[in-house]
Amino acid sequence: MRRKSIAAMTRDAADNAGMGQLKRTFGVFQLVMISVGATLGTGILVILGDAVPKAGPATWIAFVIAGLTALLSAVSYAEMAGMVPVSGSSYSYSYVTLGEGIAWICGWCLVLEYAVSAAAVAVGAGAYVNQTLEIFGLSLPDYLSAGAADGGLVNLPALLVVVLATFLLVRGARESALANTVMVMIKIAILIFFVIVAFTAFDSGNFEPLLPMGIAGVSGAASMVFFSYIGFDAASTAGEEAKNPQRDLPRAILIAMALVTAIYVLVAVAAVGARNWEWFGESEAALVQIVSEITGRPWLAFFFALASVVAIVSVVLTVLYGQTRILLSMARDGLIPRFFGKVSAETRTPVVGTLVTGSVVAVTAALIPLGQLAEATSIGTLFAFALVGVSVMYLRRTQPDAPRTFLVPLYPVVPLLGIAACLYLMFNLAGITWVVFGIWMLIGALIYLAYGRRHSRLGGLTEVDYKAKHRLK
Ligand code: ALA
Repeated sequence: MRRKSIAAMTRDAADNAGMGQLKRTFGVFQLVMISVGATLGTGILVILGDAVPKAGPATWIAFVIAGLTALLSAVSYAEMAGMVPVSGSSYSYSYVTLGEGIAWICGWCLVLEYAVSAAAVAVGAGAYVNQTLEIFGLSLPDYLSAGAADGGLVNLPALLVVVLATFLLVRGARESALANTVMVMIKIAILIFFVIVAFTAFDSGNFEPLLPMGIAGVSGAASMVFFSYIGFDAASTAGEEAKNPQRDLPRAILIAMALVTAIYVLVAVAAVGARNWEWFGESEAALVQIVSEITGRPWLAFFFALASVVAIVSVVLTVLYGQTRILLSMARDGLIPRFFGKVSAETRTPVVGTLVTGSVVAVTAALIPLGQLAEATSIGTLFAFALVGVSVMYLRRTQPDAPRTFLVPLYPVVPLLGIAACLYLMFNLAGITWVVFGIWMLIGALIYLAYGRRHSRLGGLTEVDYKAKHRLK
């Protein structure tokens, strides 16, 4: 239950507990790009195709529902990010509100949201690389395009994507942000291109009847496409690299949410307008196929598929970035080994932590069957989102006068609805996913008991002792 004060948290962040500081280089634009980079990806490119058979022409409504659910949490993130502008995201928010134990659980859930999903998304990149090659009648042999679980040996594209992202992250945050911005521009451009192409074949008849699968179909699809909104919170892991985090983090999170929702709804309307909903479900890459069929130009489809690979690389890059920053915050608090927190004086990045994280993710993506663990990503994420809502409510009660740069509107209705929505989506997920999540949490608890609890910087010290020990005012 021991917790840090907001002041101690920001002060520790200011000198990174003597482990070298990150560099403040990001303005609001880069922060928006980080959140969009982590969000726009396989959800819209791949999962859209699976959602249409469930929801029918009302797929766009499923995207609106999932977007609203995400927005209910996004506003809580915005309030917390403005109050506790460090790099640990919801892990750090929990530490100043609900205490170290819950913070650890939250951080452990964030490993699902970030590291595990990075590996899962990288595996998805492998499928896209193959589809791109197939347009030219080429394809990678099975043993190089899939891990052991999928009948192959090593998923080479997935491995390369993660290695590339790790390399960029080690080079520097600025360099990574620049590469990410270029990739985000490319992915927005291809989705706009898709919308334009699809609208040339728009048939309003495709929207009748709107709800062939009923309301239940739409709500099932909403749970499914919620995945496509995961990542809007990535800007909140850049608190120590933002030039003006208090002002810019809340803005970036909300701008990214608005941008991404608008794009998703447009793409969903355009896709179903172009092809009857019953057409979906066969192709893994429905959007590429629509472009190819409508234009009759395979080379356009080639560029589209190539850009989709770029889109996925940018998700892996930003999600891996977020993971390294969360781990850095946890290392600073002593809950995981210090090397995760050490920042190189030369590159101003956590080099060792990035290399270790990148290697683990790369090996996982290339070789290890992720299966159910990837499915547990959503539970872990939703749990972390719910905790942010709880944190907002806790601080409004205990520190009503603390400075806030953004206020959740319609308090307490919005955070309460946000928490309820997260719990509802969590309970909608399959039983087996819960079992895997339970095992994951158990492993986390054991690690905490064996390591974190004893190495915690806050330790058994009271806030007063802690300040004295670390010579803080
Ligand atoms: N939201 C991210 C994606 O859709 C995880 O790929």
